[in-house]
Amino acid sequence: MESFLIKGGKRVEGSLRVDSAKNAVLPLLAACVLTEEPVTLTDVPHISDAHHMVEILTMLGCQVTCEGKAMTVSAGGIHNWEMPDRLSKQIRSSIFMLGPILSRFRKATVTYPGGCEIGLRPIDLHLSGLRSLGVVVHEEGGMIYCDGSDMHAGEVHFDYPSVGATENVMMAAVCLPGTTAIHNAAREPEIADLQNCINAMGGKIRGAGGHTIEIEGVDRLHGAVWEPISDRIVAGTLLCAAAMTGGEIELTRAPVDDMIAITSKLREMGCVIHEEPKLLRLKAPERLAAFSQLQTQPHPGFPTDMQVQMLALLCAAEGTGVIVENVFENRFTHAGDLNRMGANILCSGRTAVVRGVKNLYGARVTARDLRGGAALVLAGLRAQGVTQVDHAELVDRGYDHLEAQLYQLGADVKRIET
Ligand code: UD1
Repeated sequence: MESFLIKGGKRVEGSLRVDSAKNAVLPLLAACVLTEEPVTLTDVPHISDAHHMVEILTMLGCQVTCEGKAMTVSAGGIHNWEMPDRLSKQIRSSIFMLGPILSRFRKATVTYPGGCEIGLRPIDLHLSGLRSLGVVVHEEGGMIYCDGSDMHAGEVHFDYPSVGATENVMMAAVCLPGTTAIHNAAREPEIADLQNCINAMGGKIRGAGGHTIEIEGVDRLHGAVWEPISDRIVAGTLLCAAAMTGGEIELTRAPVDDMIAITSKLREMGCVIHEEPKLLRLKAPERLAAFSQLQTQPHPGFPTDMQVQMLALLCAAEGTGVIVENVFENRFTHAGDLNRMGANILCSGRTAVVRGVKNLYGARVTARDLRGGAALVLAGLRAQGVTQVDHAELVDRGYDHLEAQLYQLGADVKRIET
């Protein structure tokens, strides 16, 4: 096992370039399967979810080559429509391989996907979306068999704007004759990025970022070179690191317009934030002020992936604040660890009430999921003494060496083998 060891009390200061977004890169890697020609993603972070996705692509018969941060996927030789069991269980995003594989082979087999333990995370919306396109889905023994021999363009309506299901259906429909419409689509910026990349590959998709996405089927897609958008959650986490320690930080390649929900909350807590195109500067106050409430929502609401980092911030703020988690049902699993560090959090169902304390104290704590692990690191930056966050590998799913990024910003953080 690997752990992060943090000596608290150092101010986070300096300038850093924001990596590409995990949630953009994963569907983009899946989209590479849509064409026989090579697709290059020019800026892929070293995160384990991307590595697992590459393993899946390789096992399906794709050739993947890397040069620095650029990754090229050639899916010409793909020969398999069955997703490898072990890898599908490792990352949830393996589910949106369904759409591209169906598009290529008109059939696909996957196991139920894995991923962070942050809730039930069913896949009913993915399957109902595909059924609306004529896919016959048969579930048996933990496997999902999809027969797309009669696939056609169609009208898809989601009861809830699921990010993954929207992406899956976009990819399944891109080469179906006729026009497919996705109603109540998710509006996350990563969906617009997927649309724009697929269009660079010759697709005809419009409307991403809005409630309805229209996909006009094309005969085939071709290769492309694409730079994924940068990561609003990584950027938000780094802003929180500065906010937590009374620091001052500059982020370049920051997705400024996609972060308004996050920057507004940080302003509410007393941070001074300066914005320019692709650049953010944050100066933290000596002591943060608690916001009165925060509710997670689908985009453009406050992102659930930043909720637990804000929970950590609130622990050390002056005053009392309430957080309501509306997207996932099990996302306060780190409250106990934060309380062990001296915080005062009371959770009931989807609500957490936090009374800010002046001091947090170092402790040995456990990352239970990706964002929760990052939040414990944030708490450690502020805590008096030494904090050990076990299971660093969960944080590696979505942050490219978080300890190195924070160390570069002056924090005392390292990775140890335990
Ligand atoms: C994506 C993100 C994840 C983020 C989440 C919400 C990627 C790779 N991951 O995950 O980081 O936390 O969006 O912003 O992009 N749901 C169903 N049935 C389904 C699908 C989803 O009930 O078939 C529910 C989920 O249980 C959850 C809610 O819908 O409660 C949101 O899930 P969804 O938007 O699908 O998230 P993901 O695509 O899994």
